[in-house]
Amino acid sequence: MNDLDDPALIQETDPSDFLGSVERLPDQVRDAHERARRVEGLPPADGIDSIAVLGMGGSGISGDVLQVALGPRSPLFVATLRGYELPDWVDRNTLVFAMSYSGNTEETLETFEKALERNIPIVAVTTGGALSQRAKQHGLAVVEIPAGLQPRAALGYLAVPLLVVCERIGAGPPAGEAVSETIDLLQGRADEYHRKSPLESNPAKELAQRLLGKIPVVYGSEGLAEVAAYRWKCQFNEVAKVPAWSNSFPELNHNEIVGWERLGKVTRAHAALLVLRDEGEHPRIAKRIDITLPLIQGSVSLVHQVRGRGASALARLFDLVYFGDFVSTYLAIAQGVDPAPVEVIESLKRALGDV
Ligand code: F6R
Repeated sequence: MNDLDDPALIQETDPSDFLGSVERLPDQVRDAHERARRVEGLPPADGIDSIAVLGMGGSGISGDVLQVALGPRSPLFVATLRGYELPDWVDRNTLVFAMSYSGNTEETLETFEKALERNIPIVAVTTGGALSQRAKQHGLAVVEIPAGLQPRAALGYLAVPLLVVCERIGAGPPAGEAVSETIDLLQGRADEYHRKSPLESNPAKELAQRLLGKIPVVYGSEGLAEVAAYRWKCQFNEVAKVPAWSNSFPELNHNEIVGWERLGKVTRAHAALLVLRDEGEHPRIAKRIDITLPLIQGSVSLVHQVRGRGASALARLFDLVYFGDFVSTYLAIAQGVDPAPVEVIESLKRALGDV
């Protein structure tokens, strides 16, 4: 196991400084906010009743962040569309966000082209690629974000512009306060989880070490923490290169909970249960979690609960997400694995002729 307090070992295992891009997320959120405020040519929001966010993987999750940030009281129907199909409800009353960090993701380009054919208001968020080219040809607004990051390390650049655009066109509430709160909160967390903060006082390093050799199963409560749980799962997969699964309360109480009954010997040796909590969770969900955890405890090697802080939904979501980003990065480094490359994804895209 690699020593997480050894800066030379961190550098050797993480030559492209993926950890640095995680540490700099607060600056990224600030920069994303400023860029989105400057973008010109945004479509009008007249008649908009829904928002469709087109994107895959690290780009697509921005749609889930938008949904959480707008909250359950928003009159707009918001959906993240991950795939090739553009459902018929996406029409001229829908605002479309076409999200692709590289600008070259096949599925996103296909749904984007379908949206163009339907003459739908579209805003693109990308570093360039075919998406940027096509969007500019059609005179669409493009939020240009800096290249050189892994998409999953660019969540600030990918998610924050959506809130700002919604605010600017009158389709969402003012974003400034929630964004400022998020930056301040993340800055404090960046210091707490920073590589220079030693293991004994660094909860991210500590949890990463406990997860060595384990398969994380991440549960979150409906809504905000559910999105965070899915993000944790994806980061364990892509950053730490380990299998991981996520699910949410209350749905898992109606199926997955039964699956812990058998194979206890196997799951006790390998599964680690992480439970993400949000202070805004429904009181019945809090009760469900209290009842469920003792039922599962004997079937897993550890149970660890994480609570997000913050006043706004955006800050609380980013708080949970940020901890998971650090934990998965330290887990990669502790295993001696470079957190940055995702060779399997790249070779799959090459085989499909996508890049
Ligand atoms: C890689 C990553 C992936 C990509 C996905 C889509 O870091 O997070 O999940 O985000 O393959 O690619 P883009 O984001 O370029 O559209």
